[in-house]
Amino acid sequence: MPYRALPALLAATTLAACAPGVDEYEDPFVATGEVVALSGGDAGAQAACFTCHGMNGQGDGAETPRIAGLDEGYILKQLNDYGSDLRPHDPMSSIARRLSDADRARVARYYADMPPRAAAPAVSPAADRIAQGRALYHQGLPDQNVAACSTCHGADGQGLGGGNPPLTGQSPAYLAAQLRLWRSAKRHNDPRDVMGAVSRPLSDDQIAAVSAYAASLPHPSPE
Ligand code: HEC
Ligand code: HEC
Repeated sequence: MPYRALPALLAATTLAACAPGVDEYEDPFVATGEVVALSGGDAGAQAACFTCHGMNGQGDGAETPRIAGLDEGYILKQLNDYGSDLRPHDPMSSIARRLSDADRARVARYYADMPPRAAAPAVSPAADRIAQGRALYHQGLPDQNVAACSTCHGADGQGLGGGNPPLTGQSPAYLAAQLRLWRSAKRHNDPRDVMGAVSRPLSDDQIAAVSAYAASLPHPSPE
């Protein structure tokens, strides 16, 4: 990829041409998303992402989601939404608010580049729950104006485009928690209230079933 080398070359040339004083060099330690992930960056050590999301960004199999391999723009949007109370959550909102815009962008890039792990989901939901959720996922509830989840999240739960996130590789507990948050409008960061409209008619049982089904879809494989 010869073009990709260009910015680096230009940067190197500029630096050399400016012959900067010490504080004009970019500190390589400050710059990378990896440092934010491991140290919490501007937000301090309690914000170090790996302590909750795991060394490989795979989440904890419960209510802390996988973030490895999600779309870069989606991750950045979520950090901004946590920071702005469109998606209020303790501790993510206070972590996001303490991260600079630059650190949010760097850490989003870092996790987007990290491959999702090819492995069985950490939690295997009960088979009858999965079967119950399948129809809802692929057909929705036409009588109640609930669109099929597959229209936006894909037939395999792989996500479609940058805006519609994958549901595979997330635990049933996390997926169900998000649907309940939308149903109560606590999470309201979805464009045009698409997820609000989808989740409001759902019962707790339907949420559990569709979450079990989506979580059972094949785990994403590394690219
Ligand atoms: C103290 C534990 C903790 C730390 C530290 C933490 N997270 Fe989280 N994170 C969570 C939990 C729990 C959730 C789910 C919150 C919810 O229900 O909205 C979450 C959700 C997210 C999401 C939403 C994912 C999705 O699929 O929508 C992103 C993105 C994220 N975290 C990124 C980060 C980044 C980047 C860092 C480091 C700067 C970080 N988190 C640090 C616990 C943590
Ligand atoms: C019209 C499109 C659309 C339909 C239909 C739809 N979704 Fe979504 N869904 C979205 C979008 C867009 C987002 C991300 C919103 C944001 O920016 O946070 C999302 C996010 C989610 C999330 C959160 C993922 C995460 O990582 O935090 C879950 C869970 C979810 N949808 C489940 C479902 C289920 C289950 C159905 C079917 C009952 C469904 N969705 C139907 C568009 C849709």
